[in-house]
Amino acid sequence: MSAKDIINEKGLDAQEIAAAKRQEAIRKQAEGYTYPATPLQRETLEWFMDQKFGLMVHWGLYNQMGMKESWPLVDKAWTKWQFKPGTTNREVKEMYAQLHRGFLPLRFDPDEWADAAYAAGFRYLCFTTKHHDGFCMWDTKTTDYKVTGSEVPYRNNKNADITRALFNAFRGRGMGISLYYSRGDFSCPYYWEEGYAMRDGTERVPSYDPDQKPEKWKKFQEYTYAQLKELVSDYGRIDALWYDGGCDGVKLGVPEMTEKLREIQPHMLGIMRGGHGVCEDVITPELVFPDGYVNVPWEVCTVMAKPLEEYGESRYTSFGYTYDVDYMTAKEVAHMLLDVVSKGGNLALNIAPQPDGRLPGRALRELAVLSEWMKVFAPAIHGTRAAAPYRTGKFAYTRTKDGRRVHAFYLYDDGERVASEYAVPFEGRARRVTDMRTGGELAFVQSGNTLTVQSDAERVGAPGDIADCFAIEVE
Ligand code: GLC
Repeated sequence: MSAKDIINEKGLDAQEIAAAKRQEAIRKQAEGYTYPATPLQRETLEWFMDQKFGLMVHWGLYNQMGMKESWPLVDKAWTKWQFKPGTTNREVKEMYAQLHRGFLPLRFDPDEWADAAYAAGFRYLCFTTKHHDGFCMWDTKTTDYKVTGSEVPYRNNKNADITRALFNAFRGRGMGISLYYSRGDFSCPYYWEEGYAMRDGTERVPSYDPDQKPEKWKKFQEYTYAQLKELVSDYGRIDALWYDGGCDGVKLGVPEMTEKLREIQPHMLGIMRGGHGVCEDVITPELVFPDGYVNVPWEVCTVMAKPLEEYGESRYTSFGYTYDVDYMTAKEVAHMLLDVVSKGGNLALNIAPQPDGRLPGRALRELAVLSEWMKVFAPAIHGTRAAAPYRTGKFAYTRTKDGRRVHAFYLYDDGERVASEYAVPFEGRARRVTDMRTGGELAFVQSGNTLTVQSDAERVGAPGDIADCFAIEVE
């Protein structure tokens, strides 16, 4: 029975109820939001809101097996679907414990990634320096469970410090860095005590109660801080620390750690997910898109890979690389981005590399198509702010920061052609309207809150390409 068929006693559709709850959760998060404390951090926040489009990358040992990131180590999770029926928890864990010995992404080229990303309109990288499994994607001194570890065959490659290679390549193109760091760590004996991992029934939280064993917990805090300090001291400018879940961030001391790390880089944003306004400079809904404008800084993360039908419900989404997936088309990506940006947010779109270190060719092909579109339309996305009526029907809006130009994007359906006239909902007084694709001025009549805009005669009937944009100069 699919979730759609589950009707509750009141006759309401269970999915609708779940969707309403998710919207409610976003509203609550927004209500609890507080702006960062210092002018420098608020400047970073403005910068962050200008960037709009982040490339999220989950890369770790899990990519080799094409399985969900880290979660196969957690028995009380929902990851069994991806293994052959009958595979035991223990088999999965024994396999996982070998993975670092086969980490050899010989075709990894950070410059290729950065070029493809920049052209497609991405302006920052959100990279998993450490996911829940604890494997460090940088050359840390705190553990041997790392890309440059003694048993990792890639350790002597010039790009073996993957974090450094990626940060340098992306920064080299003017892109920003949001540093993903997992609060939980299944490899650290101060988080999952010796022997716990192989036991049945593992959970994502620490294997003990931190209140009962404060000394052990303190060691975990020290371990965490030492790692973060390396990353913040030795890896260049970090724009945001993006602390994913695993354990209670307040208990771990994430807000205090972030404050201390700001002695090194005072401008950094702290994005402690689920922080209820504490150390949460940006709210980060996951796989859920707000149904309207949200008036605090937000970033949604989701994946470009589309789970195959047979995977069933979308909760099986993997941020790690999966072999048998399709990818969103350029048009789907652009429409999603326009939806998010028009509601005032950023989109962090995840693409996971293959075990050989390349981004999947099928995803890159779509990014290349997106790049062509971006050449024309990127200026109406980056550096803009949301503008009423935000998102209505097939239109999505942005405006320049000074408010003197509003961009009304029109999102094409498949097979749709350019019409001769458009009724563009618009709340201001228009002075001049141009077709962003051609730069040509368009005739229009304004009546109330509608602009009736005549298309460029030469374009009428042409296939609608992703989206067009009316640039409206405001009186
Ligand atoms: C979810 C996943 C986690 C992933 C994160 C990215 O919380 O469980 O593995 O890193 O989403 O947003």
